Amino acid sequence: MREFVKKLLPRSIFNIVRPIFQCWYVLYAYLYDYVRYLKYSSSLGYTSAAKLESIIVMNYHVVEKGLTMPKTRLGFGKDRIPRLCDFCDRYILNYDLSASNQVQHAVGVLKEYLDFHDKREFSVQQELKTRILRTVNLAESKLRINPTKQIDITREEYFKFGTGHFPDFASSRKSIRNYSSENIPDDTMRLVFRTAQTSPSACNRQTARVHVFSDKEKIKEILDIQGGSGGFGYLANKLIVITAELGAFGGAHERYQAYIDGGMFAMNVLYALHAYSIGCCILNCSNAPYKDKKLQKACNIDKNEVFIAMISCGFVPERFSIATSQRYELEEIYTIR
Ligand SMILES: Cc1cc2nc3c(=O)[nH]c(=O)nc-3n(C[C@H](O)[C@H](O)[C@H](O)COP(=O)(O)O)c2cc1C
Repeated sequence: MREFVKKLLPRSIFNIVRPIFQCWYVLYAYLYDYVRYLKYSSSLGYTSAAKLESIIVMNYHVVEKGLTMPKTRLGFGKDRIPRLCDFCDRYILNYDLSASNQVQHAVGVLKEYLDFHDKREFSVQQELKTRILRTVNLAESKLRINPTKQIDITREEYFKFGTGHFPDFASSRKSIRNYSSENIPDDTMRLVFRTAQTSPSACNRQTARVHVFSDKEKIKEILDIQGGSGGFGYLANKLIVITAELGAFGGAHERYQAYIDGGMFAMNVLYALHAYSIGCCILNCSNAPYKDKKLQKACNIDKNEVFIAMISCGFVPERFSIATSQRYELEEIYTIR
C-alpha cells in the first residue's frame, strides 16, 4: 500500500501526506489498544476467575514480601490482609478452589502469616486474626491447605548454580530484597552490562540504556517515587534504571517495540547479575503520566527514553530470606494449538 501511494504521488506531496497519515494511523492504533485494554484488563473490575486470581496473587505476594524483609515489621498488613481475605472469599464462593494453586497458595500464606507471628510470640491484632481465620476456615471447608514456607537460604547455597546448566541457573534466580553494604566495583557492573548486551533486539537496534545510581540519597529519592521497595530498597548498593530509546522506532506497528526490547534486556541484566553473584530485584516502572514525569525528572532521563524497569542490587548477606513467588501450573500457561 505504502509503495503504491508512493508511486502515485509526487515525492513532495508524499512527504507532506506521510506524517499526517502517520499521526492518524498511530492514533488509531492507540485507540484500538485503548478499547481492548478497557474491555479485557481488570481496570473495570475483577469480573472473571482469572482476573480475581491475579489480584489475589498481587496481594499475597505483598504479604510474602513482608514475611521475608530484612527486618520484618511484626503485625504488618493490617489493611492489605483483610483485602486479600475478601478477594479469596469471593474466589472460593464463586469458583473452584481445587483448580487454583494460586488461591490455595494465598490461603497458605495467610496461615504462614499467623505461624510466623506465633513463633515470634507476637499477638496479631484480634480483629485481623479473626478475619484471617474466617478465610482459612472457608477454604478448608473445601480442602486442606498447608501453610506456605518462605525460603531461608545461605549465600553459598543461593549462588551454587551460578555456572550451572541453564535450567538450574534460571530456577535458582530469585528476586533478592536484602543486600550487604559491600560496594559492587564498576568493573563488575561493566561485565554485567556487557553480558546483558547479548540480548536480542528488533533489527539489532539495541535501544536499551542503563543509568546506574550509587548515591544513597539519590537512590532514596528515586525509590520513594517508585514506591515498591519499602523495607529493603534503602539497602541497595546500586540502583539500575533501564530505559529504551524511542527514536529507533516508527509507525503504528512499532509502538511497543521499545518495551519489548527493553524488557528482554532487563531480563538479561537480571541473569548477568545472578551469574556475577549479585543479588537483585527488578522494580516496576510502569506508571501513569504524573509519576512518569516525576521519575524522569528525578533520574534526569531524556524525554526520548522510556522507562522499562529499575533493578535494586547489591552483594548479599551470609543468610537471607526469599519470597516463594509460587508459579502457575504449566498447564495453565501452555496451550498446544
Ligand atoms: C515488571 C516488574 C515489576 C516488579 N516490581 C516490583 C516492585 O516494585 N517491588 C518488588 O519488590 N518486586 C517487584 N518485582 C519482582 C516480582 O515481585 C518478582 O519478580 C515475582 O514475584 C517473581 O519472583 P522471582 O523474581 O523471585 O522469581 C517486579 C517484577 C517485574 C517483572
